[in-house]
Amino acid sequence: MTAVLSAPLQASGTDAGHIESCVGPGLATSTESAARRRRIAPLARVVGADECVPSAAGPPVRYANLDYAASAPALAEVADVVQGSLAQYASVHRGAGHLSQVTTRRYEAAREVVRRFARARVDDNVVFTRGTTDAINLAAHATRGDVVVLDIEHHANLLPWCAPDQSGSSRVRVVQACDTIEDTLVALEAELASSPAALLAVTAASNVTGEVLPIGRLAAVAHRHGARILVDAAQLVAHRRISMVSHGIDYLVFSGHKLYAPFGAGVLVGRADWLDVATPYLAGGGASAQVAIGTDDESGADVAWHTGPARHEAGSPNVLGAIAIAAACEALADIGFESIGLHEAELTARLDDGLAGLADVTALRVFADSTDRVGIAGFDVDGLAPRAVAEHLSSVAGIGVRDGKFCAHPLLKRLGHPEGAVRASFGLGTCSDDIDRLIDALTGLTRARTA
Ligand code: ALA
Repeated sequence: MTAVLSAPLQASGTDAGHIESCVGPGLATSTESAARRRRIAPLARVVGADECVPSAAGPPVRYANLDYAASAPALAEVADVVQGSLAQYASVHRGAGHLSQVTTRRYEAAREVVRRFARARVDDNVVFTRGTTDAINLAAHATRGDVVVLDIEHHANLLPWCAPDQSGSSRVRVVQACDTIEDTLVALEAELASSPAALLAVTAASNVTGEVLPIGRLAAVAHRHGARILVDAAQLVAHRRISMVSHGIDYLVFSGHKLYAPFGAGVLVGRADWLDVATPYLAGGGASAQVAIGTDDESGADVAWHTGPARHEAGSPNVLGAIAIAAACEALADIGFESIGLHEAELTARLDDGLAGLADVTALRVFADSTDRVGIAGFDVDGLAPRAVAEHLSSVAGIGVRDGKFCAHPLLKRLGHPEGAVRASFGLGTCSDDIDRLIDALTGLTRARTA
C-alpha cells in the first residue's frame, strides 16, 4: 500500500538564484555515518559538482546528484574539448575551407576513437546517432528476421523490435528472464535452438537494478545458434571495459549522455553488411552519392546511396556530440576502468549497507546469482509512493534520484512494483557524502513515519 507523504517538502524561502552560501560537502546534519567511515572522494571532476540547491532543512546544500543512470553530468575534460572545438567549428564533409577541414577531421577522428574504445573490428561501421534509442531503431531498421529479447529490457531495446517488419509481421520473440542468470542463459539457448533468429538483442546492465549480464556468454549462446548479438551498453559503457572483439559483440549501442558527454549524440558500432544493404535510415544529403530526378515516375529520383556510416547519417551530423563522446572515451581510458570499478565498488557497498539497514526499504533485484552491479540501486520504501520519496529527498536533502517505472514497465511489473520505485545511481563525480546523505535522509523519512 502506498501513501502520499505530507511531511514538509517545500524549501524555506531560498531558490537557486538567491544562494549565497552553500553547506558543503554535505548537509550539516549528515552525522554518524559520514564521521565514522572512510571518506570516498569523487574520481573525476564533473561540471556542476558544486551546484547548490534549496533545502527545507536549512541553508542551500550542494546538490547530491544520484541520477547518473538517467543522464550523467559532463566531465570537465569533455566540456573543455567541446568549448575548444567551438572556436573552430564549421561544416563537416561539405567544405574546402580550412575550418571545414579541421572540423571534418575531428569528426572522423572521433569515429576512430570510439572504435578503439569499443575495441571494435577494423571493418565495423561506427555510426553516430542521437542516442541509444536512435541507434537501436537504426539497428531494427537494418535487421531482417526474428529478434529475441528478454522481458527485462528498457523500452528502447524492446519497442523498436516490436514494430512490424516490411511484410507486416512482428518479429520479436520475448523470453522471460529466470530468477538466475544461469537459468536465463539456458532459456535463451532453448529459444534460439527451437527456431532460428537473426539477432539476440540484450542489455549489458539493467537500468533498474544495475545487474550486469555476462555479455561474452550471451554472445556465445547467440552465435551457437547462428544469431548475431546486439548489446545495449547504455548503462554499462561508463562503468566497465567492453571489448567487442573479445566479448564477441556484433553490434554495440550507447549514448553520450550516460558517458559524461551530454551533447545529444550516441553510437551504433557493428558489422557493416546489414547496415550497408539497408535503405538509409534517413534520406537526404550526406547519405546520397549521386542523385538525379528519376525517369521512373514511381521512384521520383534515381539515387546512388553511400555505404559505410554516411549511409545512415544524412543531414548535418551532431559534430560536437561526436567530439564529446570521443573526449569522454579518452578521459575514461585515462582514468582507467580498474580505478572506476574500485571507486564504484566502494560506493556500492556503502549504499547497499545503508539500504540494508533500513527495515522499510526493499532493494530491487532480478537475479539471485548476480555477482556484478554497476552504480545503480532500485528500491522501494514500503507504504510510500516513489514520487513522494523522491520529492522528499530533493526538497529536504538536496538529493536528485529518479522515480517511476524507468521506461521498463514489464520489468517493474515482474518485480512486483507496477506503480514504480525509486532509483539512486552514481558515477565518477560521486563521493561518500552523497551516499551518506541519501541514507540519512531515508532514515529520517522512515523514522518520521513510525514516530
Ligand atoms: N534510460 C534512462 C533511465 O533509465 C533515461 O533513466
